[in-house]
Amino acid sequence: MKKSSVLIAGGGSTYTPAIVNMLIANLDRFPIRKLKFYDIDGERQKITADACAIILKENAPEIEFLATTDPETAYTDVDIVMAHIRVGGLPMRGLDEKISLKHGLVGQETCGPGGIAYGMRSIGGMIDNIDYMDKYSPDAWMLNYSNPASIVAEACRVLRPKSKVINICDMPIGLEDRMSKMIGLPSRKDMIVRYFGLNHFGWWTHITDKEGNDLKPAIMKHIAEKGYVVDESEYAYDNRESWKYSHMKARDLVRIMPEYIPNTYLKYYLFPDDEVAHADPEYTRADEVIDGREKSVFSACREIAAKGTAKDSLIRKDNHATFIVDLACALTTNTKERMLLIVENKGAISNFPSDAMVEIPCLVGKDGYEPLAVGKIPTFQKGLMEEQVAVEKLVVEAWVEGSYLKLWQALTLSKTVPGANKAKEVLDDLITANKGYWPELR
Ligand code: NAD
Ligand code: G6P
Ligand code: MN
Repeated sequence: MKKSSVLIAGGGSTYTPAIVNMLIANLDRFPIRKLKFYDIDGERQKITADACAIILKENAPEIEFLATTDPETAYTDVDIVMAHIRVGGLPMRGLDEKISLKHGLVGQETCGPGGIAYGMRSIGGMIDNIDYMDKYSPDAWMLNYSNPASIVAEACRVLRPKSKVINICDMPIGLEDRMSKMIGLPSRKDMIVRYFGLNHFGWWTHITDKEGNDLKPAIMKHIAEKGYVVDESEYAYDNRESWKYSHMKARDLVRIMPEYIPNTYLKYYLFPDDEVAHADPEYTRADEVIDGREKSVFSACREIAAKGTAKDSLIRKDNHATFIVDLACALTTNTKERMLLIVENKGAISNFPSDAMVEIPCLVGKDGYEPLAVGKIPTFQKGLMEEQVAVEKLVVEAWVEGSYLKLWQALTLSKTVPGANKAKEVLDDLITANKGYWPELR
């Protein structure tokens, strides 16, 4: 089997060490000859890189490893780019969340004003990385899971339509893992699913086992009673209690949409008042991540570097991130695996705009992806999606044109914002906070 050269863009991410462990565990099906990290913050990346160098030396010494802040060194001789950058870092995520909450609006990483603000930061960083790939390794594929994925995907469609970028999200995968556990199946791969929507905004319409037996009623019954919660103990580490709240909130989502299984992120659009009431404007999810995942991952990394060994390290193997390997395998060995990707609709949802970026099942092989037909979707979902797609398109247009008006319209149209006055208030605060990250708006 051909060995790949892999670049992790955003090498200093809190997810990087667990992904490296996962890649090592999957070398039999996705062999790697070279692994590189690229980040604009060399100091942050050094923490994960020093630890991963040791992890690799102990577990896969044949893999050549390097970490760099130089785009040419990073992007030369690469087959697969795994991109998980966060422009502005967790501190800017915190501001997105807090500024929104200060105005009584949903304060969230990828939804509502926070997601719009993050989108305005991410587009430039993503385009830089795509351009490096196109320049130094034009045959490579970029598997992007940098957020906000729907806005990033729309920016790719508009600004770099020919670049080989595939946008994917782990949320459906994580929720499918939960569903399989709810009904006692060994793996989510024992289920065949049909799904449609936008990123962080979608529904499962059908779930069967391999024999075609309908699994949806049993899953729905579990969600109606316990939401997506399957194991209470999992929330104990890394400040994950707020995820429990999200998983429980799915109970309300199936009350208003009993026909399909919902992505939990829909709660920000359908129950924004509950979200605001439940949030602490002084201590948001960004703080939880800084005090939880970032602290635990980085201290484990520092410990590996200090001891010179990763034996007994607390760094986990991110099992659910194996979808990244599935995707890389599909592209390198033509598996034609069926995966949910964020792609241009082009008629797949027949009663929805052709140029909308939607999240739907696709078959993936060495020439890329082939979306599967979804057909017609119902009025309620269609209406919600049309509004949200317009928001995402307006954000990208605002970024490209430097248009204050279009960003104001985007915020006004978001279901999480009650009207143009509120939209303007929060926009003006976000502009001040994002100086240097957003293009100048006129
Ligand atoms: P993080 O801040 O810990 O790590 C992100 C890294 O990206 C940082 O080291 C930062 O310096 C670097 N970076 C910023 N701008 C860059 C640029 N232009 N080029 C290269 N590197 C750059 O963030 P995190 O919590 O680990 O999350 C990383 C990203 O992954 C976020 O965008 C997050 O939303 C996303 N994410 C996506 C999914 C998904 O399924 N789509 C799942 C989890 C996380
Ligand atoms: C899920 C979503 C990601 C999002 C992440 C946030 O994995 O699919 O898009 O970035 O949750 O998790 P966090 O722990 O950082 O709040
Ligand atoms: Mn996601």
